[in-house]
Formats: sequence, C-alpha cells, structure tokens
Amino acid sequence: MNNLSDIQITRTTQSRLAKTDFDNLVFGETFSDHMFAADYMDGEWKNFQILPYSEINISPSISALHYGQCFFEGLKAYRHIDGKVAVFRTDKNAERFNKSAERLCMPQLPVDIFINSITALVDIDWNWVPSAANHSLYIRPFVFATDPFLGVTPSATYRYMVLAGPTGPYFSKLLKVKIETQYTLAAEGGIGYAKAAGNYGGAMLPARKAAKEGFDQLIWTDAKTHHYIEEMGAANIMFMIDGKLITPSIEGNTILKGITRDSVLTLARGWGVPVEERRVSVNEIIAGIENSTLSDAFGTGTAFTITCIGSLAYNGTEYFLNNPDSGKFSDRVLNKLNQIRRGEAPDEYGWNHVLV
Ligand code: PLP
Ligand code: COI
Repeated sequence: MNNLSDIQITRTTQSRLAKTDFDNLVFGETFSDHMFAADYMDGEWKNFQILPYSEINISPSISALHYGQCFFEGLKAYRHIDGKVAVFRTDKNAERFNKSAERLCMPQLPVDIFINSITALVDIDWNWVPSAANHSLYIRPFVFATDPFLGVTPSATYRYMVLAGPTGPYFSKLLKVKIETQYTLAAEGGIGYAKAAGNYGGAMLPARKAAKEGFDQLIWTDAKTHHYIEEMGAANIMFMIDGKLITPSIEGNTILKGITRDSVLTLARGWGVPVEERRVSVNEIIAGIENSTLSDAFGTGTAFTITCIGSLAYNGTEYFLNNPDSGKFSDRVLNKLNQIRRGEAPDEYGWNHVLV
C-alpha cells in the first residue's frame, strides 16, 4: 500500500458522533465510527480496508487466543488550536511496532502501511478528534495471529487493525504507588521491551492485589534482585534528584522504550537539564525522599501522559513526596508537550505529523 487510494473505504451510515458525550470520556470505552483492517497472507499484507467499527468474526482456534501471538501500539492525534489535526510521533510507534513483531516472531509491517492506515482512519474520523485541553484521539494499532491451528508454531496469517477513540486525562490526581518486590513484569531475554498483549495480562493479578490495598499503580523492579526500579504500570518512570533528571536505562531490554520518555528526555536535554539514564535503586529514591533532594517523581506514557506520584510504598512503609503545587519539572515538561501537541509552540523536533 503506497498511497491511500489502495484502501477500500466503507463509510458508516449511522454515525455515533452526535450521541457521544465528549465531556465525560473514560479511556478505552468510546470508539470512533470506523476502524482499519488488513490481512497478512502468502507472505504479504493485503485487503486494506476502512469499515464501520463493529464486532469481527474470528475462529475460536486462532493462535493469538491460545499462544498470545498478539501485540499493539498506542499513540494519539491532537487538535491544534487552528483546527488542524496532527498525530504525534507516528514514525517512532512504527519502529517499535516492528520491534514487537520481530520478538513475537510475527511479520513486519512496512512503515508506510502503518502511517497511512493511521492517517486515513484519523482523516475519516476527523470530527472525533476532541478540541478540549488535555483531550485527544487515542489510536490503537494491533496485530494478531489468525491461523486456526493449535500447534505451537508461528502463524502464517495475521490481521492488522487500527481502532481510535476520543479520550481525556487517564489520571487526574497524584498517584499512590507501591514498589512491587514479589511479582516480576519482565526479565532479561524476555518480552518486556515488546508491546506484547501477554505482558499486560501478566501484570493484572499483582495490580489487582495492589488496588485492593489502596494503590493506584505498581512500580516494577528488576527480576533478579527487586532492588532496581524499571517502570510504572503502563508508563516509564522518572525522578528529579538534586536537579538531575534520572530514569531507568532501557539497556537490558526489560522495559518499554517509551516515546513519551524520549520526548521528555529530548526536551530536558534541550533545556540544559542534566539527564541520567542508568540503573536506579529503590534505596536511592527513598534516600532522596528522606533527605529532600528528590523534588519530582512521575510516569510518562501516551495514555498516562505525565502523571505525578504523591506517595510511594516499599516493604510496608509509605513515603510521601514533597509536591509543591507548581514550579516542578514535570509541570514544565507537561506544559511544553501540550503546547507542541496543540500547535501552540514551535515543533522544533518535528514530532507532529500534521494531516493535510
Ligand atoms: N511502559 C509500558 C509497559 C507501557 O505500556 C507504556 C505505554 O505505552 C509505556 C511504558 C510508555 O510508552 P509510550 O510513552 O511510548 O506510550
Ligand atoms: C499507551 O499508553 O498507549 C498504553 O499502551 C497504555 C495502555 C495499556 C493503557
């Protein structure tokens, strides 16, 4: 698929737009009128279609359901103040999509198919892109194995789909988080760096247990010692200690190479803020809270945007962060990202893929 004319388009005759309450959006609950679909068979991607959002027919024996050959991406389209729409850093998501595909022994998707499928869907559902501050159209591309075969072997056929839905902020409060020292999300050699569906399923039991104890999120630690911080739920994690922005390194392939993480580090470096990507021990963070050198702790992610941590529990003790109302690095970086995404500040790094 080299251009949009290769996509067969069937428009909905019953738009749900007018019935959608844009003032009370819950992440992941509302979908736009259309979806994109393509099939992988005989070694190539074909049957590019945009069709009304609907249920799909699948065989109960597809290997995605049994063996988890399934991965996804998450990105957002924003409404600029001049009314235009731009998708944020699509090229980075395309790159990571193919890293996930490689790790799960699934076919690569050419970058032009990834980008054109998303821009075509956003274009047709243009009116679904919210204009309110902190709102966006969340885009969910995913691939799953479709061979109806219970043998444990990579599928020969796959379906690629893209869904979209308007969303507001994921969290609107400071998070109460727990440092997880019993369960593990990822280990070296595993699939932590891929956006594999199974990673999220495996995180649900520990997250549910933590929620029952009153926590909003888990901070994952390394599989070997549980002494080093990795990521926070579906977000990367950063700390400001002694004026340095510190975040767990992505070396070792246990954590997701977050695109928001990259954007924040790029802005910080551009502002001359010292950045350290390295191992971050739990003890260092607790010491930073206790001696007041830690001024900021936050998660970075597409759905989470920038979400600040209010308190952090470790081995039964809860440590409260000193969170002044303003002047924090996280506020500055969130404001700048919002301005770039809404076309209010120059897009110095070329992150906006503006639809024409
Ligand atoms: N880590 C995990 C496990 C995630 O699911 C996400 C969300 O996509 C992130 C980190 C943040 O990545 P990004 O900023 O690319 O959304
Ligand atoms: C995203 O930020 O796109 C994610 O994938 C998070 C989602 C699992 C809630």
